[in-house]
Amino acid sequence: MDQQKEFEILIRKDRDSHREKVWHGNLLGYLEKVKEDPTIVKLAHARIYDIIIKAGVRNIQDTDDPHLKKLYKDESIKIYNFFSDEFYGIEKIISQIVRYCHAASLKGEESRQVLYLMGPVGSGKSSLVEKIHRGLEASDPFYAIEKCPMFEEPLHLIPRHLRKEFEKMLGVHIEGDLCPVCRYRVKEEFKGKYEEFPICTMEFSKRARVGAAVVPPVDPNNQDTSVLIGSEDISKLDLYSEGDPRVLELNGALNVGNRGMVEFIEVFKNEVEYLHCMITATQEKVVPAPGRHGLVYVDTVILAHSNEAEWQKFKSDHTNEAILDRIVVVKVPYNLRLSEEVKIYQKIIRNSDFRAHVAPHTLEISSMFAILSRLEPTNKCDLMTKLKLYNGEEVVEKGRTKKVDVVELREATKREGMGGISTRFIMKALDNSLSDNVAGNCINPINVREALIDMIREADFPDDTRKQYLEYLQDTLHKEYLEILEKEITRAFVYSYQEQAEALFQNYLDHAEAYVNKSKVKDRNTKEDLAPDEGFMKSIEEQIAIIGSSADGFRQEVIAYLWASNRRGEKIDYRSYEPLKEAIEKKLMASVRDLSRVVTKARTRDEEQSEKYGAMVKNLLENGYCTTCVDVVMKYAANHLWKD
Ligand SMILES: Nc1ncnc2c1ncn2[C@@H]1O[C@H](COP(=O)(O)OP(=O)(O)OP(=O)(O)O)[C@@H](O)[C@H]1O
Ligand SMILES: [Mg+2]
Repeated sequence: MDQQKEFEILIRKDRDSHREKVWHGNLLGYLEKVKEDPTIVKLAHARIYDIIIKAGVRNIQDTDDPHLKKLYKDESIKIYNFFSDEFYGIEKIISQIVRYCHAASLKGEESRQVLYLMGPVGSGKSSLVEKIHRGLEASDPFYAIEKCPMFEEPLHLIPRHLRKEFEKMLGVHIEGDLCPVCRYRVKEEFKGKYEEFPICTMEFSKRARVGAAVVPPVDPNNQDTSVLIGSEDISKLDLYSEGDPRVLELNGALNVGNRGMVEFIEVFKNEVEYLHCMITATQEKVVPAPGRHGLVYVDTVILAHSNEAEWQKFKSDHTNEAILDRIVVVKVPYNLRLSEEVKIYQKIIRNSDFRAHVAPHTLEISSMFAILSRLEPTNKCDLMTKLKLYNGEEVVEKGRTKKVDVVELREATKREGMGGISTRFIMKALDNSLSDNVAGNCINPINVREALIDMIREADFPDDTRKQYLEYLQDTLHKEYLEILEKEITRAFVYSYQEQAEALFQNYLDHAEAYVNKSKVKDRNTKEDLAPDEGFMKSIEEQIAIIGSSADGFRQEVIAYLWASNRRGEKIDYRSYEPLKEAIEKKLMASVRDLSRVVTKARTRDEEQSEKYGAMVKNLLENGYCTTCVDVVMKYAANHLWKD
């Protein structure tokens, strides 16, 4: 019973809040409303722009993601909250979409152009458009002429010769003309008394086709424009005289999308006549009414999308120039940032029925593969390095942070992100790896990588592409994963890893500083002054191949770097200077390598070993592993990391 009450309350609340926003009246009443709040009069582009902006905007430099800030340090990119909780790594693309909406909302030339999203399969085009659809549906109701098939702006009722005066009185601009159906009703039903015409509020709805319409590619043998502009009801043609608007069925996509938006899926699959109709709708803001009923005013945002192949084909035909000139193209390539690619799969999994355990690094390794496949090679670094740089990470090479400018890397590419493995392909691999392992109900980097390898072998790729992809999976990612895994096992083995790393770091700093300043180190316990311990420093430095004469330079760099950070007021720890961090982590790894090896490979363990092994497994379980994947991963480590 209580539960029922709860349901009831929810339903009633929802109904009441709806009722508050519902309004019924006539044109006179509406004019009063406009006088009170002129912003209720809005053209479609401005409405959508306002919806996006209302959710909030941040500057990329004001986010708390240090990688992101670094990647875009010289660019001013905005983050739009409207999109940011569902779309990842495509901030620049989104800002182009919003820029279009803004320009169009100011009635610039763009308000008379089609917004066209072009990109590879699964790059998020449909989802972006869908998000705008949902934004409209969640927005406040809009005012429309009651029973108008196109939900017209009520101000259309005001005759031309009075508009100037009304515009002055209301502080709004009046654009557009009555549709033939309403014009007829004013004359016949209301005997010209348009001020009494009923006005009501309406809600955007894609399913009910109110202010939102979708046009899938139409069968080329049946390109009947009625899908776009409606038709004449043949059964009524006998009843009414020719030219009587009562025969009109203004239910085409461009009719019902009036006030909101019309989406064209795979737009260039349609015949040219079809596209002309779409272009006229934006360019002239009119569409022909079916039969002999003249032109109908429309105000809608036209969003089209398709893949690159279709675009190229269309573009190469010069007879299409007139259409091309009226299209704003926004390229939607794949995301190329590792951290964001992981978020994409987390989102898709969250929204799906996928309910298995996902072992640590599974999505990371899958995402690495997706991104590697999308990157263009460069002579400045290898692809894995490029991937990490694009992710805002620092890459250490020969004891130094690699100095490659990400902006330059990006600019040197031609069509990076426009090809490669799609999000859907990766999702399929995650599903496949689960169906191979139903009993464990767990997916992990190892079985996902296997699933990917199988899929690549079977898929229809050109030979050299397939070879390349297999190399990424079998070689690059295999190595990368082993590195990740060894680090992880070390962490699980080393009791209080963080503290030990920190202790090594402090110790190294003491000695390196004394070495650089040609002074002594005060022993923390005995307070004795000692000469800097070169043996100790070397044991750290050699981890990242700093040997012989290069050590001097390295020590100076470490001290100078940390000094500068300290002066900037930054907190210093073992992770502050990337090369040193790597050296310390490797040193720790080396220190337990023998232990790991013996303990993980052993078939029978003595008591002490068992205890160590147990503690390590417990650590892993606490860090996101489940009992299934801990087993898989440890076996994998025993077979691959510590080979005899
Ligand atoms: N950058 C991204 N951020 C968040 N989600 C993304 C991103 N790119 C793709 N996706 C997700 O990937 C899935 C596939 O995207 P979507 O269907 O929108 O692609 P599409 O570009 O329309 O592909 P197609 O050309 O095949 O129609 C969706 O679940 C989408 O949300
Ligand atoms: Mg799509």
